Amino acid sequence: MAETEKPRPEDSEEEESDDELDEIAEFTNKSRTRQSVSAEAYGAWNQKKEFTPPVFEKSSEQSDRLKATLGHSFMFNELDEKDMQTILHAMKEVVLEAGTEVIKEGEDGDYLFVIEKGQLDCIKKIENQDKVVKTCSAGDVFGELALLYNCPRAATVKAKEASVCWQLDRETFNHIVKTAAVNRRERYDALLKTVDVLKDIGAYERSQIADALKPETFQKGDCVIRQDDPGDKFYIVEDGTLYAEKKVGSETNRVMDYKSGSFFGELALLRNQPRAASVYVESSSCKVLSMSRASFIKMLGPLQELLLKQAGSYA
Ligand code: CMP
Ligand code: CMP
Repeated sequence: MAETEKPRPEDSEEEESDDELDEIAEFTNKSRTRQSVSAEAYGAWNQKKEFTPPVFEKSSEQSDRLKATLGHSFMFNELDEKDMQTILHAMKEVVLEAGTEVIKEGEDGDYLFVIEKGQLDCIKKIENQDKVVKTCSAGDVFGELALLYNCPRAATVKAKEASVCWQLDRETFNHIVKTAAVNRRERYDALLKTVDVLKDIGAYERSQIADALKPETFQKGDCVIRQDDPGDKFYIVEDGTLYAEKKVGSETNRVMDYKSGSFFGELALLRNQPRAASVYVESSSCKVLSMSRASFIKMLGPLQELLLKQAGSYA
């Protein structure tokens, strides 16, 4: 959405559904106040002209490491050249010893972090007990929620081992990355909620999946997956219809129909085998969201049993 089209706080208050506010509250510990969500989510856009991003000098070795790190991060890897330069200048290297607490649950937050190497635990107090809700590794971003939704830190983040991260300030993030990140999470979140196999995952996991999806457009008759090819992507249908066709001996049968919210392409990744069927576009055009093999294994690996259960019903 263009800057001028952004709903102002007073408009957006009416437009935000109760469900949306509950979702944000679910992973941010934030009280369900409308002002708190909309004020930050749509706040700082008018200030673009006065913004002067910070510059942290870097050696060429540091710049190379940072570029490689951002290239592995969904939140940053699609920035245009100019925005990427601003981000490269504004990020600051943070070297952490094992056990260092980078973020404390409940505090205010002014930075997000991208991990170059190492592992960090995200820990939430649940019923007075510390629970590790996620372990982040290279390429992952953490500390984005406080910046995206202007809320207190939703978890404590602690280095599990010696780690190197890059830190980005709230203002630069707001000006360069936030609009795209909020739009993508909101747009794909609505679709992901309709995907049957994902219906029981938490809001935070869903936001991570949303970050990993890449849109692709196809036309009627296009073959998205060809039987017997090697498989390296998983697909969710955003818009349009498709069908799967399976050839056994000299016989070819239509075995499945797909519409918005359906998924396909999971078998080759789960079983490490060639594609078991072909998938063609039936509607005049169609939009799908694809996810790489690595993201699929990382994010949907835990759903393996559910996915294979569905595969058990295939013709
Ligand atoms: P933030 O709330 O700014 O700071 C703590 C971070 O922990 C949070 O952003 C997320 O990046 C990260 N995190 C990882 N898993 C979760 C989770 N399940 N709920 C909330 N935050 C999480
Ligand atoms: P994959 O083998 O990766 O690529 C082709 C996809 O077609 C497959 O994953 C399933 O998602 C889908 N499919 C639908 N019906 C069948 C079926 N009867 N047999 C095999 N694959 C099917």
